[in-house]
Amino acid sequence: MRIDPAAAIRGDIAVPGDKSISHRALLLGAIADGVSEIEGFGASKDTLSTAAAVRALGAVVEVDSDRVRVEGVGLRGLKEPGGPLDCGNAGTLMRLLPGILAGHEGRFELVGDESLSTRPMERIAEPLRAMGARVETDDGHAPVVVEGGALEPVRWELPVASAQVKSAILLAGLYAEGGPTVVVEPSPTRDHTERMLETMGARVQRKAGEAGVSPANGLRPLHTSVPGDFSSAAPFLVAATLLAESELRLHGVGMNPTRTGFLAVLERMGARIAVFNRRVVGGEPVAELQVEPAELVATEVRPEEVPTLVDELPLFALAAGMAHGDSVVTGAEELRVKESDRVESVKDALRPLGVHIETRQDGFRVRRVPSRPKGGGVVDAAGDHRIAMLGAVAGLVSREGVELRGAETVAVSFPDFFAMLDSLALR
Ligand code: S3P
Repeated sequence: MRIDPAAAIRGDIAVPGDKSISHRALLLGAIADGVSEIEGFGASKDTLSTAAAVRALGAVVEVDSDRVRVEGVGLRGLKEPGGPLDCGNAGTLMRLLPGILAGHEGRFELVGDESLSTRPMERIAEPLRAMGARVETDDGHAPVVVEGGALEPVRWELPVASAQVKSAILLAGLYAEGGPTVVVEPSPTRDHTERMLETMGARVQRKAGEAGVSPANGLRPLHTSVPGDFSSAAPFLVAATLLAESELRLHGVGMNPTRTGFLAVLERMGARIAVFNRRVVGGEPVAELQVEPAELVATEVRPEEVPTLVDELPLFALAAGMAHGDSVVTGAEELRVKESDRVESVKDALRPLGVHIETRQDGFRVRRVPSRPKGGGVVDAAGDHRIAMLGAVAGLVSREGVELRGAETVAVSFPDFFAMLDSLALR
């Protein structure tokens, strides 16, 4: 796909519903007592993998564009499917679902695509084993086989900050008789699971650095609206900041503070992003954003901030490439085990366009390009939706545009990304 340079990003948009919350609404809706109704669902390849998985486990799920209806089967009502559960590219599905299956009698096998099959799975297998489930991985990777049953509570210290691992343990904690299950986090990660469990009537305990859940007898169904995905808004925030004549408004964007680290980072770089009409929808903070172009200065992203902008770090690299001074990210080793090795794939995407980026094991350092990056080259998405969106924004802000390979991978999280971009870009 050819991405031509643009002069501005102009318009009003609402991005699709949050992917993390959409996955959780399907998974938790499936084990609720009764019918859940979800609006603003973010339909994408990843979330549709979750819909298919819970259907295979016996829940009735109807998806009608952004409206979803789930007939919950109750906390222990999922049934052994006829074959393996295909998680596709969805790490959130492969890591959260075993937490629920650990509390179910039966044998469940989860498989994934080539990329997902290289990602670490022992991080969920170990704590679930400690709670009493039988969990097998293939040398740490998918297929993941779960044989569930009676569980006991644990207090688990996460070696790496991960909301997916925290969530798997908390979901298993719903089934662990005898006391609360507690997860200790090295730094705060997204808390959508805790918030959703609370709205469904589970007893969730939260204090600084810890989240816990008590065993439950049942969950109330969800009647909720999913906020726009901050991670899907992020490419537009960057494009509108970097293109001099832009004017952009985004409606109904999720503003959960465990997700908006990139906003804080852009603001300290000098971005002009106004946040207004703050409100709470379905237990999650939401707001409108208005973006005006700005000159950026370099900044440092510290390790404890990383979980709050982990999926936006590729875009940070591009913004840093156009900011005065040297920017650096440390403590972001997790980038190496995302849908691609995002330290390397960000470097491979941006270097040929003229962005000065040096990698290290736990992050990268970026030096300013004197003006807009030259562009003119080929960006390969490396099979990673976030790199495809990075390549698209890089093309827009470059002088010569780019040739983007693997553009179709945006469908994993944001199928209409290019249509939305085209409707906003002034050339
Ligand atoms: C997610 C958590 C993050 C994030 C992923 C979605 C979630 O992963 O990168 O895109 O929905 O919980 P980790 O928990 O592995 O950091």
